[in-house]
Amino acid sequence: MIAQRQGTEHPLDPEQVWLLLLKLRRTARTLSMVPGCFGLGLDAGQPAILSADDPAAWVIVHADGSWIARMPMSETGAELLDLYLPVALVGRSRPLTVAHLGQSLDGRIATTNGASCHINGPENLTHLHRMRALCDAIVVGAGTVECDDPQLTTRRVAGPHPVRVVLDPRRRLAAGHGLFQDRAAPTLLVCDEALTDRPGPDHVEIIGVPRTDQGLHLSEIVRYLHACGLYGIFIEGGGLTVSAFLQAGLLDRLQIAVAPLIIGSGRPGITLPAIEDLSQGLRPRHRRYAMGEDVLFDCRLGP
Ligand SMILES: NC(=O)c1ccc[n+]([C@@H]2O[C@H](COP(=O)([O-])OP(=O)(O)OC[C@H]3O[C@@H](n4cnc5c(N)ncnc54)[C@H](OP(=O)(O)O)[C@@H]3O)[C@@H](O)[C@H]2O)c1
Repeated sequence: MIAQRQGTEHPLDPEQVWLLLLKLRRTARTLSMVPGCFGLGLDAGQPAILSADDPAAWVIVHADGSWIARMPMSETGAELLDLYLPVALVGRSRPLTVAHLGQSLDGRIATTNGASCHINGPENLTHLHRMRALCDAIVVGAGTVECDDPQLTTRRVAGPHPVRVVLDPRRRLAAGHGLFQDRAAPTLLVCDEALTDRPGPDHVEIIGVPRTDQGLHLSEIVRYLHACGLYGIFIEGGGLTVSAFLQAGLLDRLQIAVAPLIIGSGRPGITLPAIEDLSQGLRPRHRRYAMGEDVLFDCRLGP
């Protein structure tokens, strides 16, 4: 969306936009239906949801998630709204599942031995933390926990931690991994339904899910998370997990951050069954965002 530039006031800065997005996230989760058209602005100095005709509304949000600004807006602020508004608006009537992978020019998300820390730059890392803050649940595969021992919390920006969800169908992960021990956020371990009897780490909820030929029944996992009130789901890796959600048709958006790096070997990003003709490939509608040296492709897979 293009911000309407009016007047000579100072433009809305990215920090103010982020606080408005967090306010919208909190409100959208508590309403059964987000109103069709509304304003975002300040009420008594605090970020607030306002009626669209309130003169204090800085940004007007339409039912389809598009927006216009009623005051000057920095380019960075406008990009934050474009990228994050659909995630902030998530609620019972608007669930959203988004996956992200950071990869090299040659499509690798890690070296062969699993090192992936410095593929993308700090701007993309901040993006991941923004997505964590706006989503309700963050999902990773067992391979990612094994290699990275990640915290999966929100630390680089203001905002809540998501519920952490680890797909470990065979219960192969050791209980000593940081996210099973740190109690920083609620943590779920999803496994084959036949393996739920084995005790898990304290404070980690074990969820049993049936298997299909492709592995765990992923739509059952999404259904379970929605039933828990977790409507914004962020799949943060690795490649096998994101590919399984993509193949199952469960992603509304796929974000791929491409770094100007050639690894030449290593773990692949997306892998899907072979196709015979390029016309069978996916060519999703997308928008590109510059993130430091990286380029984020924000692809729309749903309607
Ligand atoms: N660059 C990035 O964006 C990024 C992000 C995250 C991770 N990484 C890197 O990627 C590597 C890990 O990625 P990866 O692709 O090897 O593994 P992964 O996706 O993290 O984990 C894969 C494992 O999770 C379980 N799993 C996932 N989906 C499943 C399904 N539908 N059904 C059943 N089980 C499922 C399986 O465990 P079992 O093997 O026990 O069956 C599977 O082997 C690490 O090196 C990590 O550092 C990179």
